[in-house]
Amino acid sequence: NKESISSRGALIVLEGLDRCGKTSQSGRLYKYLDEQGHSVESWRFPDRNTGVGQMISSYLANKSQLDDHAIHLLFSANRWEKRSDSISENMQSLMEEKLKSGTTLIVDRYSYSGVAFSSSKGLDIEWCKAPEIGLLAPDLVVYLDISPEKAAERGGYGDERYEQLEFQKKVAGSYLSLRDSSWKVIDATLSIEDVEKKLREVVLDCMMTCHKGKPLSQLWP
Ligand code: TMP
Repeated sequence: NKESISSRGALIVLEGLDRCGKTSQSGRLYKYLDEQGHSVESWRFPDRNTGVGQMISSYLANKSQLDDHAIHLLFSANRWEKRSDSISENMQSLMEEKLKSGTTLIVDRYSYSGVAFSSSKGLDIEWCKAPEIGLLAPDLVVYLDISPEKAAERGGYGDERYEQLEFQKKVAGSYLSLRDSSWKVIDATLSIEDVEKKLREVVLDCMMTCHKGKPLSQLWP
């Protein structure tokens, strides 16, 4: 209908430690919203399909080494390249266009992962935040909360660079200092169905607020 064409979609970000269940929950949420007839897309960062994304992927698989600052900037560049569609004539942002045309984006990791992981290596937090300035601010950040120990028990970690208990403990601490009162924290140790239910509630609520005309904003608010 007319109203839903003129109202915008929501930028929903899921964050959490490795193995917190983000990826399966974003899949379930996508399916639900899609079945309900909403215009919705499922995104993730890093997006390994771009040239920058392939460099990141190789770094994460320990196939290449990079300076901590350099990899941080690549993760950020990967978000910038998805924000802007430089091929389009009017240079309008891809993410922004999608949202404005009414599509809700469910994004698995965003700038908060960038800052939490890099600052856990000892990089200055303000330095880590700087390249994210000007990216679209999420309308909702959902943090799937699990202790590093519990996360590590979940089928074990793979071979990727950051999937180590000691490092994940530092990341958990960094997330804690990034969190603000607007974040919705969901206990990720609940059953899949319970997490899904709580997630749906906060997401539908946020979508309604965006639908009613909440303006888009930029990082960091
Ligand atoms: P993934 O497992 O969700 O694909 O993410 C890959 C790893 O990259 C994960 O350990 C988190 C880390 N990461 C960063 O260090 N910086 C970032 O900006 C993002 C998006 C992820």
